[in-house]
Amino acid sequence: MGLSWGYRDHSVDEAAGIDLIRQAIDLGVDHFDTADVYGPFKNESLLGRALEGRRDRVVLATKMGLVVEDAATYAYGRDGRPEHVRAACDASLARLGVDVIDLYYLHRVDPKTPVEETWTAMAGLVAAGKVRWLGISEPTVAELERVSRIHPVTAVQSELSLWTRDHLAEVVPWCAAHGASFVAFSPLGRGFLTGAIAADARFGPEDFRSKLPRFRPEAVAENQRLVERVRDVAARRGATPAQIALAWVLSRGEQVLAIPGTQRRRYLEQNVAAAEIALTAEELALLDALPAPVGGRY
Ligand SMILES: NC(=O)c1ccc[n+]([C@@H]2O[C@H](COP(=O)([O-])OP(=O)(O)OC[C@H]3O[C@@H](n4cnc5c(N)ncnc54)[C@H](OP(=O)(O)O)[C@@H]3O)[C@@H](O)[C@H]2O)c1
Repeated sequence: MGLSWGYRDHSVDEAAGIDLIRQAIDLGVDHFDTADVYGPFKNESLLGRALEGRRDRVVLATKMGLVVEDAATYAYGRDGRPEHVRAACDASLARLGVDVIDLYYLHRVDPKTPVEETWTAMAGLVAAGKVRWLGISEPTVAELERVSRIHPVTAVQSELSLWTRDHLAEVVPWCAAHGASFVAFSPLGRGFLTGAIAADARFGPEDFRSKLPRFRPEAVAENQRLVERVRDVAARRGATPAQIALAWVLSRGEQVLAIPGTQRRRYLEQNVAAAEIALTAEELALLDALPAPVGGRY
């Protein structure tokens, strides 16, 4: 996402983005996550070009169901109508330049369309051979129960990190019980948990974080106390805070994966190496006891 949308001036040079994705594949990254709204549309095209000749080495995930209404202000609408599901899938296949999407997510449930109707249309895409597996982002357990009666849920993608633990109580256990993966988005707290965002950092309107309560100036300053604790654990371990944040997410269960985003090779290498870190009981206890952050996540 961050290569085309969301953070900073939300774009990197296309050639640099393609290079970075290919470097990630060479480092062993085999799961890439995009969505039609990222850009909008540009991120799928970028990923499609980067995967040319490498398609078989990765699990390719994309999403539909959010529609950008105003790119300048990050205003989104929701659309889960069956006709939108089918048209969005064909458009994503074309932009990605592939015959099949491995994992196709409903990005958000559309309150105007019963989720059963959306999911039945998505199951139709599996039957048509356009999609291999279905996923859903930010569902409740009640919604998971409703859709899984129609077609299995292969993955749930929701926010999970040291400062966003809401889904550990119900959704993560639901995934374990139903053989679904839990794909943790923003596992680095949109960059905050890495320690790279200073107490006096300010986000302009071109950066999506300017819309989020946790990134308001007073919250950014207050929440440094979380980062300080993560830094302490990292220093003792000889790791970076980003690596500790990712290792904690991965410690939440066998079914939990993390999809950190970056624009830089240095961070990419660090993040890949975090998969090898097994936190000790003492480190986990320190991290589990972090104070709650100031500010809601949206
Ligand atoms: N389903 C959903 O609704 C949803 C919502 C949000 C995100 N997502 C998915 O989740 C993915 C990741 O989430 P995200 O990008 O929001 O947040 P994230 O991975 O938690 O954080 C990304 C930020 O962290 C910085 N960063 C990455 N590695 C770092 C390191 N080792 N040290 C210091 N800083 C580092 C990046 O900086 P640079 O860019 O400067 O490298 C970027 O600003 C997205 O690409 C998207 O596919 C899904």
